[in-house]
Amino acid sequence: MDKFIIKGGRRLSGEVEISGAKNSAVALIPAVILCDEPCILENVPEISDVSICFRTLTELGAVVRKLAPHRYSVDPTGIRKHCVPYEFARKMRASYYFLGALLGKYGKARVSMPGGCPLGDRPIDQHLKAFVALGAKRELSRGMIDLVAEELKGEKISFDVITVGATMNAILAAVRAKGTTVIKNVAKEPHIVDLANMLNKMGANIKGAGTDTIKITGVDYLRGIEYSVIPDQIEAGTFMVAAAATGGDVTIINVTPKHLESITEQLRKIGVNVEEYDSSVRVFVDGPLVKANVVTSPHPGFPTDMQPQVATLLTLADGTSRVEESIWDQRFGYVHELRRMGANISVGGKVAIIEGVEYLMGAPVKACDLRAGAALIIAGLAARGETEIEDIHHIERGYDCMEVKLRSLGAEIVKRPLFDELEIEPKKKAVNG
Ligand code: EPU
Repeated sequence: MDKFIIKGGRRLSGEVEISGAKNSAVALIPAVILCDEPCILENVPEISDVSICFRTLTELGAVVRKLAPHRYSVDPTGIRKHCVPYEFARKMRASYYFLGALLGKYGKARVSMPGGCPLGDRPIDQHLKAFVALGAKRELSRGMIDLVAEELKGEKISFDVITVGATMNAILAAVRAKGTTVIKNVAKEPHIVDLANMLNKMGANIKGAGTDTIKITGVDYLRGIEYSVIPDQIEAGTFMVAAAATGGDVTIINVTPKHLESITEQLRKIGVNVEEYDSSVRVFVDGPLVKANVVTSPHPGFPTDMQPQVATLLTLADGTSRVEESIWDQRFGYVHELRRMGANISVGGKVAIIEGVEYLMGAPVKACDLRAGAALIIAGLAARGETEIEDIHHIERGYDCMEVKLRSLGAEIVKRPLFDELEIEPKKKAVNG
């Protein structure tokens, strides 16, 4: 119910540190279930999706302790339950990783159908295809997915579509299966490589993560480790766009520039300067922003999770841009809100056509999903006047202290709790004493 209030027009400058990757952390945390000993996770982003993951683990019987900021120990050895109830799963898409992890370790899992951002139809048929191929029986009743396997056995699996979630889940289920699993047509996102690296450090035998084919030979035991989550490429990309949209000069540290290549390439086409260093990028603008043609696609293509942010930048570029969304059916929910700020965008099916305008104007708007919310923050930072963003719980699912980081770069942004706006009713005088 809280809001962000932004006074736009401040040029961002300085240095900002990127947190651990949300879409990695939400898989790595359930993956610890597979381990036979306690583990320590480092560089964990402190966002609401991660806190739901930790609460779910605790609900199952694991012991989670915060050792320091962004550093947590997880002891999975006390897990006795195998069911993730609706109240946890409905809040987060990534709750489906508990299916793969619980099935892989205990041969059984019962997880409510997952929630998450409303981006259109989000089937999980490919996840189920992998579980069934490995030997699980599945049932769906009263919104719960039930998986049971006497023994999981390595198999050949080929996905019909490239999917991050099903690739991760197939890895989780196959890591301790008997024999060898070969998975073809897999996703290649950096977080898939991160999951494989963490499990391999525990003693798993996963080869080929980051390519089209992954080969997993099952192991009997996984040992406790300490592991650091990779930097969040989408958080980094969001700050890169925010720097560009405000005509700023920002150095973004704790990043892997290789993971940002498609974002960097796209921003350069728009006229943004990006300098790459070992673990940082500097983003600055010294000329006009120009129109572009953007098409989202699986890694190493331009990420769908950066589409709303870059489309927002293009509202301020010279000329007519075209943005095509090829992953999700409904990822233009933010367009309506940007129009209220003066953007000139029309949407037909999966394509948005953007006519650049000279400036955006602050307005009250609502975040309809996580990246839509990030796009509205960028719009508010660049706009003339004040922008008030409602429903920021979407943003807090995936961005670690975003407003604090933006303030350190010179932005005027505050979080206003809803209750500050409600007047306190004066106490009524008691009648008759
Ligand atoms: N798909 C199927 N069947 C399946 C699974 C997916 O048809 O069984 C389709 C989807 O409908 C979609 C495409 O395959 O058209 C790709 O879906 P994918 O499985 O890759 O998406 P996801 O795993 O559900 C993750 C991220 C999303 C990100 C996508 C694509 C997490 C928790 N979520 O979702 O992140 O957009 O990959 O990169 O990792 C976000 O962070 O804002 C976000 C939405």
